[in-house]
Amino acid sequence: MRLEKLVADGAGVSRSDAKELIKSGRVQLLDGEVFLDGKRLEAEEHLYLMLNKPEGFVCATEDKREKTVLELLGEGLSRKELFPVGRLDKDTTGLLILTSDGAFAHAVTHPKKHIFKEYELFTAEPMTAADSEAILGGIELRDGTRCRKAALSIDPEDAKHGWLRLSEGKYHQVKRMLAARGNRVEKLKRISIGGLELDAALMPGQFRLMSREQAEKVFETCGEN
Ligand code: URA
Repeated sequence: MRLEKLVADGAGVSRSDAKELIKSGRVQLLDGEVFLDGKRLEAEEHLYLMLNKPEGFVCATEDKREKTVLELLGEGLSRKELFPVGRLDKDTTGLLILTSDGAFAHAVTHPKKHIFKEYELFTAEPMTAADSEAILGGIELRDGTRCRKAALSIDPEDAKHGWLRLSEGKYHQVKRMLAARGNRVEKLKRISIGGLELDAALMPGQFRLMSREQAEKVFETCGEN
C-alpha cells in the first residue's frame, strides 16, 4: 500500500495506475529509494515558495508577539506545513524561501555548504575601499568571531549603497560585519541565494511557487567557495 502511494505521488498518477506500474515491473526499489523506469521518485510532493519578505515580519512559524512570514501566505498555503529556510531579521527584506521539505532546508542552511548569499545594503556612513579590503581578508567581528572572506562592492555613485556577497550565515552577520568597520546598516535586502535570484516582479509581501528544479538553483554557486 505504501509503495502504491509513493509511486502515485511521485509519478503524479492515480493509485490504480500506480498498482499497474508496479505489476508491470517498471518500479524498482533500491536502497530504500523508489525508481520508475530508472528515474528516482520523490517520496512526497513538497512545496517551494519564493517570497519577497517585507519589513516587520519575523522568520518563524509562530510567534506570540510578532507577525510571521507565514501570515503572508493566506489560508490555502498556511496549512501546508511550510517553514522558512534560514532567517532574515525582522527589518530585512528580500529573498526568502519557504518549503515543506526539511531535507532541502537542511541542505541549504548547513554551515558546511557555504552557499553564497548576496545582499544589497544602505549604510549610515559611506563605505570605503578599506572596508572592502578588510571584508575580503575575512573580517573579525567585535566579539572576536572571524568571518570567511566576502566581497563588498560599493556603488560608485553613492558610497552609502553597496552589495555584499558572503558564503555563511552567522546571526546578524551583515550588520555585525559593518559594525566591525564602525558603520551601521540602515537597510538590508537579500537579492540572491546561490544561483537563485529574487524575482524582480515580486513586490514586498508577494510570493510565487517554484518547481523543485528552480529551488535547486540555490546549490549552483560559482567562484571560489
Ligand atoms: N545579515 C544580517 O545582519 N541580517 C539579516 O537579516 C541577514 C544577514
